[in-house]
Amino acid sequence: MINVADLYSVKGRFAVVTGGSRGIGLDMAKALVASGATVVVSSRKEQAVDAAVEELSLHGKAFGLAADLGTVEGAKALTAFVQEKTDKVDILVNNAGATWGSTLEEFPEDGWDKIMDVNVKGPFFLTQAMLPLLKGAAEKDAPAKVINIASVEGMRPGVMETYSYGVSKAGLIHLTKHLAGQLAGRHITVNAIAPGPFATKMMQGTIAMAGEDNIAGMVPLKRLGKPEDVYALTLYLCSGASNYVTGQVVALGGGLGTIA
Ligand SMILES: NC(=O)c1ccc[n+]([C@@H]2O[C@H](COP(=O)([O-])OP(=O)(O)OC[C@H]3O[C@@H](n4cnc5c(N)ncnc54)[C@H](OP(=O)(O)O)[C@@H]3O)[C@@H](O)[C@H]2O)c1
Repeated sequence: MINVADLYSVKGRFAVVTGGSRGIGLDMAKALVASGATVVVSSRKEQAVDAAVEELSLHGKAFGLAADLGTVEGAKALTAFVQEKTDKVDILVNNAGATWGSTLEEFPEDGWDKIMDVNVKGPFFLTQAMLPLLKGAAEKDAPAKVINIASVEGMRPGVMETYSYGVSKAGLIHLTKHLAGQLAGRHITVNAIAPGPFATKMMQGTIAMAGEDNIAGMVPLKRLGKPEDVYALTLYLCSGASNYVTGQVVALGGGLGTIA
C-alpha cells in the first residue's frame, strides 16, 4: 500500500502564484512554501511583493517579481524571471484578479477593459508564456498543474453590480475547460477554484457596505472563507492527489455557486 499522506505532498515542486502578495494568493503561496515547494509570487506593487517574499521566506524558499499581469509584457517578464531560477514549473496558479462595481447606467469602458485584462487575458497569456516550463515538469503519471482562480460569480450572476467581473470569471471558467482539453495530451491539468466570500482587500468595500454578518448570512454554511479552507484545497489541487482530475471547477464558497 502506498503512503496516502505522500499523495498530498508538494515537496520539491516549483510553483508560481500570481497575485501572491496578499489575500487568497498569499494564502496559497503559504500553503505551498510551508509544505516544501519553492514559490515565485508576483503582483504589481514591488513593496508588497517584497513583504510577501520576506514573510514566505520564514517558512521556506520564495522569490518575487513586480509585474502587471494584465499585460503580455508582464507575463513575459515574469516568465523570464522564473526561467532564471528553473527549467520546469510544476504548478502555475493564475490568481491575480481585480473587480469593479458601478451602476449599469454609469459603468465605464475602463472598468470593463481593466477587469477583462487582468482576470482573463492575463491567465491566458501567462499560461501561454509558461508552457515550455510546464511541459518541462509534465509527466503522464505526474502532470504539471495550472489552477485558475475564478469566482462563484462566474458560475451564476451575483447580486452586486460587478458586470465585467462576473463575465470575466465565467470566461475564466470556460478558458479552464478549453485549456484542460488542449493540454491533457501534454500531461498538464487545468482546474479552477471558484471562491465564495473571503475577507480580503478585494472584499473590503463590500464588507463595509453590507456588513460581514449579512454576507455570511447569504452563505449556506453561514460563514466567510478562512485561510485553512484555501490551504487544504491548494494542497489537493497542487499535489499528486488530483493527478486524475482536470477541467474541474471547485466552488470554495460554503455552498454558494452550488446550492445557492
Ligand atoms: N475575496 C473574495 O471574496 C473572492 C471571491 C471570489 C474570487 N476571488 C478571486 O480570488 C483572487 C484573489 O483575490 P483576493 O480576494 O485575494 O483579492 P486581493 O486581496 O485584492 O488580491 C489581489 C491580488 O492580485 C494582484 N493584482 C491585481 N491586479 C493585478 C495586475 N494587474 N497584475 C498583477 N497582479 C495584480 C494584487 O496585487 P497588486 O495590487 O500589487 O497588483 C493582489 O496581490 C482574485 O482572482 C479574485 O477575483 C476572491
